[in-house]
Amino acid sequence: MKSTIKKIAVLTSGGDAPGMNAAIRAVVRSCAYHNLECIGVYRGYEGLIEGDFKELDARSVKNIINRGGTFLKSARSDGFRTKEGRAEAYKQLKNANIDALVTIGGDGTFKGAIVFNEEFDFPIVGLPGTIDNDINGTDFTIGYDTALNTVVEAIDKIRDTANSHNRLFLVEVMGRDAGDIAINAGIGAGAEEILIPEQNMGRDRLVASLKRSKLSGKSSSIVVVSEGDQIGKNIFGLAEYIRENLEDYECKVTVLGHIQRGGAPSCYDRVLASRLGVGAVDALLNGERDVMIGIVHNKVVSVDFVESLKGANNIDEDLIRVADITSI
Ligand code: F6P
Repeated sequence: MKSTIKKIAVLTSGGDAPGMNAAIRAVVRSCAYHNLECIGVYRGYEGLIEGDFKELDARSVKNIINRGGTFLKSARSDGFRTKEGRAEAYKQLKNANIDALVTIGGDGTFKGAIVFNEEFDFPIVGLPGTIDNDINGTDFTIGYDTALNTVVEAIDKIRDTANSHNRLFLVEVMGRDAGDIAINAGIGAGAEEILIPEQNMGRDRLVASLKRSKLSGKSSSIVVVSEGDQIGKNIFGLAEYIRENLEDYECKVTVLGHIQRGGAPSCYDRVLASRLGVGAVDALLNGERDVMIGIVHNKVVSVDFVESLKGANNIDEDLIRVADITSI
């Protein structure tokens, strides 16, 4: 089937993630390769509503594969949540003769795309871009690997000072409702305990476990706390509880925050973003729409948008076991 698509727009939406620039670059260059026009949309759905567009050619995306953030900028758009906002966005796409859209972002971005497609039957392909790794239908999201490396590097530094002072550190990491960053960075950084939303440990069990660690000869401890964890949500309250119930340790808190979202993307994220960006344009030219392009068992796949949203986040039980065993 010969495709009727001649002009593709690309945008980044939601929380930025390292590797988004590499994904935009791959979409733009793939369009150039197939002799298609490419339009960059600034500030995600917000810029779509306002028609904040810029033509992009192969040279417009030079020297960005190594840069964190997104040069198209990103936003969490309230306007796109309204019917009027989406109608305005559709008008802007039509006025600019755009035939299809590639959206790079997380599940909020995909939810917006699903509604937009239902209302206007407009071809959209999504790329999973979020540090949280909380999208179904793909083994990895763009930005996750870089964020893991950032977290591990930070915890390595915290360990130096924790060890020098025989202290206990609670280190809060991002992930919204998903424990992927916490469990993997926790294992990688050799954390004593890892608190994730998918498994409620409870304050008492945490304190009992830290006591056991101390008795076994550990002089300092790192507890990685996912921001969405039940008892970790109020990390300063948790630190207070530990101080009251575990006198042997001085307990400190570090919230890593948005440094986890920045920085040059890892090689893995650059390659992943490049593969998925090329995959997005291929999918559109093959007549696919309303799908996300992901990676499963190291192969590029397309997944129904709806499938990408389904269900709660899963953590591999084996990871939890490995964390338990290696932190003994
Ligand atoms: O979804 C990515 C993420 O960084 C989450 O880990 C975090 O909960 C959220 O975004 C923070 O959002 P904002 O930058 O809007 O505060």
